[in-house]
Amino acid sequence: MKKILITGGAGFIGSHVVRRFVNNYPDVQIYNLDALTYAGNLENIRDIENAPNYVFVKGNITDTAFVDSLFSEHDFEGVINLAAESHVDRSITDPLIFVKTNVIGTMNLLNAAKDSWKGNYEGKRFYHVSTDEVYGTLGKEGLFTETTPYSPNSPYSASKAASDHFVRAYGETYGLPYIITNCSNNYGPYHFPEKLIPLFINNIINNKPLPVYGDGRYTRDWLFVEDHAAAIDLVYHNGKNHETYNIGGFNEWQNIDLVKLLCTKMDEKLGRESGESEKLITYVKDRPGHDLRYAIDASKINKELGWEPSVTFEQGLEKTIDWYLQNEEWLNSVTSGAYKEYYQKQYQ
Ligand code: NAD
Ligand code: DAU
Repeated sequence: MKKILITGGAGFIGSHVVRRFVNNYPDVQIYNLDALTYAGNLENIRDIENAPNYVFVKGNITDTAFVDSLFSEHDFEGVINLAAESHVDRSITDPLIFVKTNVIGTMNLLNAAKDSWKGNYEGKRFYHVSTDEVYGTLGKEGLFTETTPYSPNSPYSASKAASDHFVRAYGETYGLPYIITNCSNNYGPYHFPEKLIPLFINNIINNKPLPVYGDGRYTRDWLFVEDHAAAIDLVYHNGKNHETYNIGGFNEWQNIDLVKLLCTKMDEKLGRESGESEKLITYVKDRPGHDLRYAIDASKINKELGWEPSVTFEQGLEKTIDWYLQNEEWLNSVTSGAYKEYYQKQYQ
C-alpha cells in the first residue's frame, strides 16, 4: 500500500485534510504525525480513527532522530506538511518556538525525505502548506500573486517564510520535488478559539466582551476550511513540482464588518434580541505589526487546476456557527485549563 505522511493532522486544517484523504483514498495508508500541542486534539478526527487506512503517530517534527527513524521505517510516497505553530499573537509573546517548529521542524522533514528518497524522486512529492502572510501587507488596492516578493511582518510569518525558502532551496539544490501553497484565512469547524471567528463565537455564547484590535479596519480574505482541504487534495495530486499556488476565498472582509455580521447571525441562532451581541464589541489595544490587508489572487490554481471555493461565505459561516452550537462539549473542553491562562495573559 502507498503511504502518505500528513503532519499536524490533529489541528484545525490538518484534521480536515486527514479526513478527506482517509475517506477519498482507501487504497492509500495515511499516517498522521502530530505532537498534540495545545492546538492538536484527537477529538478533531475521532470519526476516522478506526479506518483501516489510518495510522496516528504521536511525535514532534523538531526531534531529528525521531523523524529520521520514521522515514527509515516507512517508504512514504509523499509528505504534506501542516504541523506548525500558527497563531500570530503567540508568536509575538514567544517567537522562538515558532522558529523551532516551523523552521527546524520543516528542515527535519526535508532532510528525512531527501535521505530516504535518495535522489529517486519518481512519484514522490513534498507538499508544504504555507500562508499568504509571508507576503506581508497590502495597501487598500491590489492582490497577492505567486510572484509577490516575500516581506513577512510577524515572527509567525517570518518563520513560515523561512520554511518556504528552505523548501524551495531543497528543490533547487537537491532536485527535491516540492510544491508550496500559500492560503488566506481559513474558518470552519474545529478552529481553535484563539483565532478571530471561533473566539468571538465562544465569547458571544458566553456573553463575554469581543476584543476588536485597533479600529477594526483590518481586512482578511476568508476561505471555508473544507475548500482549502479540497484545494490541497487537488494540488497534491495534479499540481506541478517546483511550483507555488495561491489559494484564497475571493472574500474580503474588514474585521469590524465581519464581527457585526457574526453578531447578527448569533442573535438569530441564540434567539436573542437583534443588536444584543453587538453590545459586546470592545475596542482593545492593537496587535503590534498588524498587517492591514490580505487578499489573494487565486487565478493560477483556478485556471490550471480548476479549483474554486464550493461554498459562499454566507453558507460557510452558517455551517460554522451551527457546528459550534452543536459541539459545545468540544468548545468547553478546549477552553478549559491552559486556555484560561492564555486568555488572561493575552487580553488582561
Ligand atoms: P493549528 O495550530 O490548528 O494546528 C497545528 C497542528 O500542528 C496541531 O495539531 C499541533 O499539535 C501540530 N504541531 C504543532 N507543533 C508540532 C510539532 N513540533 N510537531 C508535530 N506536530 C506539531 O494550525 P492550522 O490553523 O490548522 O494551520 C495548519 C497549517 O496551515 C500551518 O502550517 C499554517 O501555517 C497553515 N495555514 C493556516 C491558515 C489558517 O487560517 N489557519 C491559513 C493558511 C495557512
Ligand atoms: O492569512 C492566513 C493566516 O490567517 C494564517 O497563516 C494564520 O495561521 C491564521 O492564524 C490567520 O492569521 P490572522 O492573524 O489573520 O488571524 P486571526 O484570527 O488571529 O486574526 C484575524 C484578524 O482579526 C486580524 O486582523 C486580527 C484580528 N483580531 C484577532 C483576534 C484573535 C482581533 O481584532 N481580535 C482578536 O481577539
